[in-house]
Amino acid sequence: MINQLIHNTFGLKVVAARMFEYGSEEELGRFLEQGEIKAPFLHVGGGSNLLFLHDRYEGTILHSLIKGIEVTHETDAEVCLRVGSGEIWDDFVDYCVRQGWYGAENLSLIPGEVGASAVQNIGAYGVEVKDLVTSVETISVDGQKRIFQQDECAYAYRDSIFKRPEMKIYFVTYVNFKLSKIEHYKLDYGTIRKQLDHAEKVTLPLVREAIIRIRQSKLPDPQVLGNAGSFFTNPIVSREKWQSLLKDYPDMPYYEVNAEHIKIPAGWMIEQTGWKGKALGPAAVHDKQALVLVNLGNATGHDIVALSEAVCQAVFSKFGIEIHPEVNFIE
Ligand code: EPU
Repeated sequence: MINQLIHNTFGLKVVAARMFEYGSEEELGRFLEQGEIKAPFLHVGGGSNLLFLHDRYEGTILHSLIKGIEVTHETDAEVCLRVGSGEIWDDFVDYCVRQGWYGAENLSLIPGEVGASAVQNIGAYGVEVKDLVTSVETISVDGQKRIFQQDECAYAYRDSIFKRPEMKIYFVTYVNFKLSKIEHYKLDYGTIRKQLDHAEKVTLPLVREAIIRIRQSKLPDPQVLGNAGSFFTNPIVSREKWQSLLKDYPDMPYYEVNAEHIKIPAGWMIEQTGWKGKALGPAAVHDKQALVLVNLGNATGHDIVALSEAVCQAVFSKFGIEIHPEVNFIE
């Protein structure tokens, strides 16, 4: 297909010179064999973490429509699943919750698709997708199948091997997950436990509902207000830097990373700069969660970048800390 609009949750109007959507590995294989793919090319998921800098992408956009959730192995304690990369992430979480499988519920309502979840290492409320992934199946641009085991994926905070420029030649077709059948929950992050105070007994559906409530109270619905979730990652600083900041900001929230490092919420720092709820042209810092930049309507990629640069500068001037975008900028 040519001159097709590219779906992106920022709501930017971007057209692809060529777009190819495939429903199976065989279909992708045939397309690659025919030499139809022209550089540059970009494999996208639900477009929930992309910022297009231009209104036209001069290359080929690939998108998986591979569906299906298949149980590949099961014991009394756990279940192994092979999931098509084109499945909607939150449909998969909902399915797991309804089956009584534990592990994915804290990742409820994250926008996007299963393939991208494994690339981005999505995370929320104390869980990251890497905790559930066992392997990632790909087809490379030369048509070869390659499976990456979890320990080959170089997972880190919002990062994986698949984000490296030289790895963009691998297109994720299936992700394999392992979930637990043994009842257990992660309720320590933020206000989850408080949300469940009234419940007689904690259950998987109740945890999912609590997470959805928390997310909906802070994060704008992309259908209403274009956005890509957290725009920046939370910076990791040395303990010395954190201690010196604590003297000036004793109420500063933080998370322990390891013996040497502390993670500081960028949303909190942005709020301290006064940018929360403020606009720069048609782009704004969300008024309920300062880590989220929103399109007030008709913003271009450049409007969003201009705002992000202003916010980064303000944070650096006040705290001496550099913050970096989590969203992927596409030329
Ligand atoms: N905070 C403020 N002001 C704000 C925003 C946050 O003071 O405007 C403070 C909060 O009060 C809290 C701390 O900062 O003390 C952390 O805030 P929150 O729990 O909302 O999470 P976050 O660090 O801003 C991260 C993820 C989110 C994820 C939440 C919950 C990143 C980049 N973002 O945000 O992920 O949902 O934690 O686990 O790590 C995403 O990646 O798109 C995303 C939404």
